[in-house]
Amino acid sequence: MKHFLDINKTDPAALRGMIDAARAMKTARNGRPKGMPDDDQPLKGRMVALIFEKPSTRTRVSFDVGVRQMGGQTLVLSGADMQLGHGETIADTARVMSRYVDLIMIRTFEEAVLLEMAEHATVPVINGLTNRSHPCQIMADVMTFEEHRGPIAGKKVVWSGDGNNVFASFAHAAGQFGFNLTFTGPETLDPERVFLDEARAKGAEITIERDPHKAVQGADLVVTDTWVSMHDPQSARERRHNQLRGYQVNAALMAQAKPDALFMHCLPAHRDDEATSEVMDGPHSVVFDEAENRLHAQKAIMRWCLGV
Ligand code: CP
Ligand code: NVA
Repeated sequence: MKHFLDINKTDPAALRGMIDAARAMKTARNGRPKGMPDDDQPLKGRMVALIFEKPSTRTRVSFDVGVRQMGGQTLVLSGADMQLGHGETIADTARVMSRYVDLIMIRTFEEAVLLEMAEHATVPVINGLTNRSHPCQIMADVMTFEEHRGPIAGKKVVWSGDGNNVFASFAHAAGQFGFNLTFTGPETLDPERVFLDEARAKGAEITIERDPHKAVQGADLVVTDTWVSMHDPQSARERRHNQLRGYQVNAALMAQAKPDALFMHCLPAHRDDEATSEVMDGPHSVVFDEAENRLHAQKAIMRWCLGV
C-alpha cells in the first residue's frame, strides 16, 4: 500500500519522480481553462474521499480540482458530520471507507488518527495536514523553488517563526532533497528535536540561530507561517505574538538574505504579523505559485499512491 504520510517516510527517488510528474502535468495544462480535464485521465472511474477535521481552502479546493482534472470523482467530508466525530473508531471508519472509495485524504489533529487510518485502510491514505506535519505543502514548495531557481539540493532555507507542523515537513524534506535548513525563533517554540536529528543523520546541515538577521545571511529561501496554528489554543495567541514579533519577515530581514532569495508562506497569512504585505506582495514572494503548485504536486502524489 503506497500511503503518502510524510516526506521522511517516502523514498527520495519516489519524491523526485512526483516533482517531475507534477511539473510535466503543469506544463501540459499550459493555457487550458482550469475546469478542462487533462488529456490524460488516470483517475477515470476512481472515487477519492477528502476528510476535513479542520478548516481548509487550498487543500480542499486543490485536491478536489486535481481529482476532477484527472477524470476522477470526489466526496468532500467534514469529520464532524461523520460518525468519526461521534465516537466511531478510526479503524472502523478506515475499513468502511475502503469499501467505497479508492483513495482517502485526511486533514486531522493528532498524527495518531492519520496513522490509525493508514493502518486499517485497504486503500492509500494521504496526509492533508496534522498537528505534526504538512507534507503535501512542502512537495509544492520544493516544486516552486525548483521552478524558479533550479535544484534545491545544497541551498540554504531559513525558517523564521514557530517551529510548527509546516517546519517539520521542511525538515523532512531537507533530509530527503538534500538542502540545508536554519531555524530562527524563540527557544520555547523550537521544533521537535527528532525532526532536526533525523535530517542531520541524512546529511542535511541543520542550524538553530536565535538572531533572525544572522540566520537569513546567505539564504536562498526565507519561509514563515502563521504564529498561531489551528491546533494551538487561542489563549496562547497574545503570548505567541509577543514571543514571535522579532521574527516577522519584513523588508529589512529579506534585505539580509541573498539578493535573489525567494520568500514563501503556505497561506493563510496574517498580513503584517508573521510577514509584512510589502514582502508578501514584493519581488521575492512566490506565495501564490506555492498555492497553485499544491494542485499539480498533489495530482502527482495521488498518481503515485494509485500507481496510475
Ligand atoms: N496551506 C494550506 O494547507 O492551506 P489550507 O489550510 O487553506 O488548506
Ligand atoms: N501551521 C498552520 C498551517 C496551515 C496550513 C496550521 O497548522 O494551522
